[in-house]
Amino acid sequence: MKLDVVLGLQWGDEGKGKIVDVLAGRYPVIARFQGGPNAGHSLHFDNTNFVLHTIPSGIFRENTMNVIGNGVVIDPIIFKEECDKLTALGVPVKERICISQKAHLILPTHKIIDAASEAAKGKSKIGSTLKGIGPTYMDKTGRNGLRVGDILAADFPTRFQNLKEKHIALLKQYDFEYDAQANEAAWMEAIDYLRTFNLVDGEYYINDALRSGKAILAEGAQGSMLDIDFGSYPFVTSSNTTCSGACSGLGVAPSSVKNVYGIFKAYCTRVGSGPFPTELFDETGERLRKLGHEFGATTGRARRTGWLDLVALKYAIMLNGVTDLIMMKSDVLDSFETIRVATAYRVNGEIVDHVPFDTYAEVEPIYKDFRGWQTDLTNIRHEEELPTAFREYVEFLEKETGVPIRIISLGPDRDQTIIR
Ligand code: IMO
Ligand code: MG
Repeated sequence: MKLDVVLGLQWGDEGKGKIVDVLAGRYPVIARFQGGPNAGHSLHFDNTNFVLHTIPSGIFRENTMNVIGNGVVIDPIIFKEECDKLTALGVPVKERICISQKAHLILPTHKIIDAASEAAKGKSKIGSTLKGIGPTYMDKTGRNGLRVGDILAADFPTRFQNLKEKHIALLKQYDFEYDAQANEAAWMEAIDYLRTFNLVDGEYYINDALRSGKAILAEGAQGSMLDIDFGSYPFVTSSNTTCSGACSGLGVAPSSVKNVYGIFKAYCTRVGSGPFPTELFDETGERLRKLGHEFGATTGRARRTGWLDLVALKYAIMLNGVTDLIMMKSDVLDSFETIRVATAYRVNGEIVDHVPFDTYAEVEPIYKDFRGWQTDLTNIRHEEELPTAFREYVEFLEKETGVPIRIISLGPDRDQTIIR
């Protein structure tokens, strides 16, 4: 068996949670491969809304194993809170989750460093979710980190203290007030809870599952434009959000990857700082935010909004080797008379069709306009019923990207989905 990957092609918040939940029925194993509680994956069904941060979006499906891979960073407190909420809903979390021993732990002091670093950056701050993501990955690559498997060691408390001391030394460089003991008791309690889970050698688990014929879906977090290597550095997250991250974050060979499902919204959003060429600062932007409920699932921050950016989308498709596209939130555009798509940029007076290296360059989008369909799409369940103007928009995107749009989402609910 091969592994399929589903990931975001923009700046995150594309609707990965909904799609993984929709696809989950076909996969006995769902695995998160990078990121951590900076993610907020929303699922809607039976008139309820649930936001997942660390746990894969297959958790509500019976007979689905949800793997938290080595590439993920885990905040035990947030993980426990998520599990408590799920348990209250009757979800048997311990039966449905297994965690790689090689996943790294977010310490309370990682979050403090995140906050201190952002405060010190002032105006040029990243707009981090302040979940400690950057500092935890720094300790991972700096070879100082604590991993899930370490919590089983007798000297874990000492290792924790040692890393905490390092963090306190690091924090001396910042003019930042903090309480080094804050949340420590809750963290230790959450570690005890974590110990009661199935802690596995994730790479063996995944490869054994593949060998025994189980289909696996790897669930990305964030989006390609937030990738540590290919995103708008430094305004990015600290992991590889692109397809290669699924290999390193789970321990699977590239040759094991089959379909790559790339998710994008019919427009664009970004939360946090950094370039966003098609951003709208006018009433239209406000309308997109309102109609699309564009407020962060993790931080509650208002998201920046703008038109679809084909230059960035094609770049992400290239980086990921996307085989199938999934278009989300098409219904948000239902009432617009005109819908715009950026097909190129003007940079330093020159027209280009690539994403420029310079994050700070002035980029002016060049648009192609489409007539809006001005039809309510939310109750449409069959492809044949889709209005002509909407089909023209879809066909244009397929022609430009060279990739079929396999799934069209017309609302937040599981049922508001057309699979082509
Ligand atoms: P999901 O999985 C949208 C953004 C933050 C910030 C930058 C770095 O829900 O799509 P970090 O906390 O990672 O150090 O923040 O990345 N960011 C996200 N934006 N969706 C996410 O996740 C994000 N995770 C991080 O806003 O600009
Ligand atoms: Mg989100």
